[in-house]
Amino acid sequence: MASTTLSPATPSQLCSSKSGIFCPTHAGFAKLTRNNMVSKEKRMRIACQATSITADKVPDMGKRKLMNLLLLGTISLPSAGMLLPYTYFFVPPGNLGAGGGTIAKDAIGNDVVADQWLKTHGPGDRTLTQGLKGDPTYLIVEKDRTLATYGINGVCTHLGCVVPWNSAENKFICPCHGSQYNEQGKVVRGPAPLSLALAHADIDEGKVVFVPWVETDFRTGDTPWWA
Ligand code: FES
Repeated sequence: MASTTLSPATPSQLCSSKSGIFCPTHAGFAKLTRNNMVSKEKRMRIACQATSITADKVPDMGKRKLMNLLLLGTISLPSAGMLLPYTYFFVPPGNLGAGGGTIAKDAIGNDVVADQWLKTHGPGDRTLTQGLKGDPTYLIVEKDRTLATYGINGVCTHLGCVVPWNSAENKFICPCHGSQYNEQGKVVRGPAPLSLALAHADIDEGKVVFVPWVETDFRTGDTPWWA
């Protein structure tokens, strides 16, 4: 029986186009070379175009500066517009008192002026105003018709309901789960675990200004839990 022996092809035979065997390496190389030549031609064309601009068509320095300023203005305005909300978020405008406190606001958002307030709020009155960080805060009129030097935060220490003042009971009574606080905001019945938070109520240029209370809680003798 006759046998046929195949001799291995050499690399030159494999890559020869005449041999009829496809050589991917040479084909890819040829394609790359063509691409390189095309991009070189393009670059040369662009360079020729750039150098063919006559000197009188190049804008002078004044015009270029003006264009740069216009470009800068176009970019800056929208950027400033985006930054403003962040600034207002971290630095609330317009309600800071001279000592870094917060000017109290009434129910319609006006600054609370002490004299005017006392004309319309009698002894023993406890009315909600807007206090530190926008928290509802009671402003207190003492029996001698002066404003108390402290305000009481109206947020219940149980689960955060706003606690109304009950003048008949002389207490703050939470409508959510029945916690009770005395007339100074000290807790007298649970489930609320803590007394209502305090803030200093100062007068600055006639306006009531709430300032954070960081001293001992005068009602309990404890360190303030809210500070
Ligand atoms: S939220 Fe006030 S008692 Fe529960």
